Amino acid sequence: MEFRRINGLPPYVFAQINGLKAEARAAGRDIVDFGFGNPDLPSPDIAVEKLSEAAHNPKNHRYSASRGLPNLRLAMATRYKKMWDVDLDPDTEVVTTIGAKEGLTHLMWVLLGPGDTAIVPSPSYPIHLAGPGFAGATVITVPMLDPASSENDPGDDFFDGLVTAWEKATVKPRVIICSFPHNPTSACVDLAFMERLVNFALEHDVIICHDFAYADLGFDGYKPPSIMQVPRAKECCVELYTLTKSFSMAGWRVGFMVGNKEIVAALTKLKSYLDYGTFQPVQIAAIVAMNEAQSYPDELQVIYQARRDTLIDGLNRIGWEVPAPKGSMFIWARIPEQYRDHSSLDFAKYLIAEADVATSPGVGFGDGGDGHVRFALIENELRTQQAIRNLKKALPKLG
Ligand SMILES: Cc1ncc(COP(=O)(O)O)c(C=O)c1O
Repeated sequence: MEFRRINGLPPYVFAQINGLKAEARAAGRDIVDFGFGNPDLPSPDIAVEKLSEAAHNPKNHRYSASRGLPNLRLAMATRYKKMWDVDLDPDTEVVTTIGAKEGLTHLMWVLLGPGDTAIVPSPSYPIHLAGPGFAGATVITVPMLDPASSENDPGDDFFDGLVTAWEKATVKPRVIICSFPHNPTSACVDLAFMERLVNFALEHDVIICHDFAYADLGFDGYKPPSIMQVPRAKECCVELYTLTKSFSMAGWRVGFMVGNKEIVAALTKLKSYLDYGTFQPVQIAAIVAMNEAQSYPDELQVIYQARRDTLIDGLNRIGWEVPAPKGSMFIWARIPEQYRDHSSLDFAKYLIAEADVATSPGVGFGDGGDGHVRFALIENELRTQQAIRNLKKALPKLG
């Protein structure tokens, strides 16, 4: 049968890993699972209680507002002020989305159409690479990092790639998608980098969509910058924020897009045709989470940082040298030299078969990701130590 829009999608390599994981578990093996960035930590109690209370009120069973309740948008604007000293008008510069993923995908529908192009780094979170295509547009990839580099710093490499891609493009891109701290590479940037990006966008009349999914996950005192902190960002940028990682509310599907008024209005209009908003008790509970559990993201950050340390220390101890990321919930590990004859998919399969450890093969995040596997910090420290012992046995060629 012929299908539209999904035909060009590459086969989902993560499905192969999931299949192997399921088989191993069915055979009784205990797989330490770093595969999927699906937070294992609970959502704030206060949000769960509020959800349950609000769900008992039949008024909340009706359709809600697709752009989000006014108090939810206000809570988002208040958080931006507190965290990044950014002023946002909750009525015109904030729209609620059904998670960042839905927001970004539909954002592409309003910004792009057939014949348009978008610049996306590779590797990237899969929807960043696929989203423009769902809108009929073509993606131009730029390397996220130098694959041989041992640092998680996009620096000049990324900008050089951006400039080259711009110059070479016969149809000038309308959109640049980026996301820092970055999934899967954990690349982190400072405010000066964001300023450079905004200046580039203003100069070339292009829109920047910054996915800020790991906004609250910086380590060792590093605080990820919001692109909205840059003066004049509102002229050319929008940013996605989500409660998924910051408040460990992945299944609740609450996100936001903030920034440029015209783009916020356009997405709001599209969404008014497409959906009736997240279930109202969920929106009410999200307001409570943001207003009354403001320090919850800090508590999560401490846990993720400890997990990062355990995994990084363990990997380096067994001879797999991996730099410690400054943010995100991922470790982006270059396949050790002694095993570099494996593709990332083969290596990830090998780790399941021989070490009972599941990772994500880098190639699943675009061609630029091959040669690496990604560990998501979703296992506790004890299980992480178990994984290190397994890896040591399974990788005898490490020094
Ligand atoms: C960069 C990035 N954006 C968005 C998401 C998903 O966010 P949400 O659950 O809000 O759709 C993820 C989840 O892994 C992500 O890594």
